[in-house]
Amino acid sequence: MKKVLKIAGFLVLFIVIVIGGLISYVKVALPNVGPATEVKINSTSDRVERGRYLANHVTVCMDCHSTRDWTKFSGPLTPGTLGKGGERFDQHLGFPGMFLSRNITPKGISRYTDGELYRVITTGVTKEGRAMFPVMPYPYYAKMDPDDILSIIAYIRTLAPIDNDVPASVPDFPMSVIINMIPKKAEPGTRPEETNTLAYGKYLISSAGCVECHTPAKQGQIIPELAFSGGREFNLPDGSVLRSANITSSTTTGIGNWSEDAFVNKFKSYTDSNYHPPTVEKGTFNTIMPWTMYGGMKRSDLAAIYAYLHSLPGKENAVVKFTPPQSMAQK
Ligand code: HEC
Ligand code: HEC
Repeated sequence: MKKVLKIAGFLVLFIVIVIGGLISYVKVALPNVGPATEVKINSTSDRVERGRYLANHVTVCMDCHSTRDWTKFSGPLTPGTLGKGGERFDQHLGFPGMFLSRNITPKGISRYTDGELYRVITTGVTKEGRAMFPVMPYPYYAKMDPDDILSIIAYIRTLAPIDNDVPASVPDFPMSVIINMIPKKAEPGTRPEETNTLAYGKYLISSAGCVECHTPAKQGQIIPELAFSGGREFNLPDGSVLRSANITSSTTTGIGNWSEDAFVNKFKSYTDSNYHPPTVEKGTFNTIMPWTMYGGMKRSDLAAIYAYLHSLPGKENAVVKFTPPQSMAQK
């Protein structure tokens, strides 16, 4: 009996050592996406302009890295907060930890070289070698044309500096260990010609990460076969539940019946000079879809996205977009 216990004891010890070793390997040796490149950006006004367009209207960096006013529909940006950081993505929203977007004005990123910024935006590994949780959709930015990423960097370097020390993000255990296994080397793509409408639409929709919100997910991972069919749930702080729309070409439950004009105009209606985002009472319909930002996309770019979505097969999925908080519903 004693001998058996002794063997069992050794076994437990052995397992503890192996697991401990694995954890320290994951923590110390990972993430490993290689060194940052030596690139130095030649910041022309065309480059900054392209970067401004992408960061505000396509990849919507500024959406997460500025303060959003959730008392208004679709949470428009609070003026004077561009790039300031500090937006909170935590357990209440279903994240495995508490993640705060960082200050990306020159006050926050002056310690970074251009190559290090390229690396963090496309792989999620910071200057200091820390792995970030993909709240920030870096796996999608990883596929963008490096030329576009460099333009975005040139642009954020021109933001008005804002003093804002953001506390560190804190992943929960076991994500605090697993997180180190998430960053992968970037696999950059090539930006297609704008005249190649379908390919360009595909490039834009991927860069914008639309699929991440518009696809049902299991344990935080989207289900690729159900891409764009909507229904991903977002628990809002007031207790209501928001679900993304089905944007496949299904004519019954998707947007198959929308004309190109209807699609483009829906986005454009949020940037019309007559439009002022209405105030939203707690517990009534609001959305995290950044309409006011995407609305700044060029009509031809929105039309390319429309063409691409319509080239894909329709998928049936009837979505109830909004459920008010239970306490409110009973009133
Ligand atoms: C969905 C929200 C979201 C979007 C969109 C987003 N980010 Fe982030 N970003 C974050 C969060 C959250 C962090 C911090 C994560 C952490 O600390 O683990 C972050 C971190 C960063 C950092 C690291 C800064 C530092 O001090 O180490 C940079 C740089 C950055 N983002 C730039 C960008 C750029 C450029 C874009 C657009 C191409 C972008 N982000 C889009 C949420 C976002
Ligand atoms: C942060 C999550 C998020 C992102 C990113 C996002 N959406 Fe949405 N989208 C939603 C939600 C939630 C709704 C449903 C509520 C509403 O209508 O705003 C929605 C609604 C829509 C609708 C309205 C459909 C209808 O039936 O009324 C369209 C069209 C749409 N999104 C297209 C897109 C496109 C194209 C992109 C990328 C450029 C995108 N969305 C990115 C969350 C998102």
